[in-house]
Amino acid sequence: MTPRTGTRQRRFATPPSRVRPWRPLGLPSHRASTATLAAAYPFLVPPALQTGVPVGLDALGGGVFCFDPWALYAAGELTNPNVLLAGVVGSGKSALAKSLALRSVAAGRRVYVPGDPKGEWAPVARAVGGVVVELGPGSPTRLNPLDAADSPEAHGQRLRRLATVAATTLHRDLRPAEHSALDAALTAAEHASRPTIGGVVAALVRPDATAARRDGVTVADRSHDGTDLAHGLRRLLSGDLAGMFDAPTTDPLDHAASMVVLDLSRLGADDDALAVAMTCAAGWLDAALGTARTPRWVIYDEAWRLLRQVAVVRSMQAQWKLSRALGVANLLILHRLSDLDAVGAAGSEARALAEGLLADCSTRIVYRQESDQLTATARALGLSGPERDLLPALPRGTGLWKLPRRTHVVHHLLAGPDEIRLIDTDTAMREEE
Ligand SMILES: Nc1ncnc2c1ncn2[C@@H]1O[C@H](COP(=O)(O)OP(=O)(O)O)[C@@H](O)[C@H]1O
Ligand SMILES: [Mg+2]
Repeated sequence: MTPRTGTRQRRFATPPSRVRPWRPLGLPSHRASTATLAAAYPFLVPPALQTGVPVGLDALGGGVFCFDPWALYAAGELTNPNVLLAGVVGSGKSALAKSLALRSVAAGRRVYVPGDPKGEWAPVARAVGGVVVELGPGSPTRLNPLDAADSPEAHGQRLRRLATVAATTLHRDLRPAEHSALDAALTAAEHASRPTIGGVVAALVRPDATAARRDGVTVADRSHDGTDLAHGLRRLLSGDLAGMFDAPTTDPLDHAASMVVLDLSRLGADDDALAVAMTCAAGWLDAALGTARTPRWVIYDEAWRLLRQVAVVRSMQAQWKLSRALGVANLLILHRLSDLDAVGAAGSEARALAEGLLADCSTRIVYRQESDQLTATARALGLSGPERDLLPALPRGTGLWKLPRRTHVVHHLLAGPDEIRLIDTDTAMREEE
């Protein structure tokens, strides 16, 4: 192979709806800069992965690199189907996620995006006949985070979701007495046929005397224990998050939808509001999906905006543990691995949770990293020297794919004009200008 420089864009010859093996795609040979190849030579090159949807060119092994976390998990190549994707702004993370989504839908998988803060996923969902749920100021859509299937577990599920939402709005963990107050308020709200957050807040403010006595506290103490919770949850009734989660769900989820995107772009730049909204939305989605066992991606784009909240990380991790049995592969998109450190100080429970989340992603894809991130990234992912040195030089769309037993450098290829139109966020920005 003669190394040649050049950045000419290469495309698959087939649309994403027709997933085919490598030869009929008629891909041109790989081209890379001499610097990239020189850095690449020290690798021990494993054969390209050929199961799953095509992703792009295996820059070292040659051939088309395919990926299917479910098949690789079943084959023992992965210890879990979850994927972490980290890279600087504009390195092509969302483009890769969108291609994986489009191609996975074509291969019969489903895709859920439980929060799209930039509103860039709606066209992708529409292109595959999926559902876009717009939430936020001006949208009539309501999602009730207290939705739950009629089952003995419903109360427990609602309580865990409410506790996460309350802890997120309060920026702290709940005290045991607060937890009891929340439990009692939820029980009171559940007397309604469709419990809502409004019912819970009302019961926090005016606690049920019988329940308080049964728990060995006075009504005045119970009311005191619920004060902060009521303030926190009121944000969903009359604060900046009003009109989204405070009424029965308006549009029940179409279970057959190949793709569901919750568009949160109307919420603006407030990370805190986004974290609360995503906690509610993810809870609603969980309940709406129930125990359906269709393999599905759950994609958290711009996830770094969520990870500053310990309660969110904790509930995400708990959800991931449960979701494996349901065939869910989570895709967590960050800028850098140190986004995980932002959750808390070294040695804290928060940091341990963040490290657990990383451990729960047995596929790690690293796109271009700033030079000040190299040491930390290499340490966290166990990268070799040459792998580490490659990171600041990776061109847009090219990433280091680190699986437990293999490493690949993959250049993601966009599949034809349709996919490019859906994925090109630069074009969207140019059109806005
Ligand atoms: N593999 C690729 N080939 C060609 N263009 C790409 C590729 N990946 C990304 N791009 C383009 O780069 C721009 C930024 O990509 P994007 O995925 O939005 O970056 P990020 O999510 O990392 O900030 C988009 O306009 C997209 O079309
Ligand atoms: Mg992006």
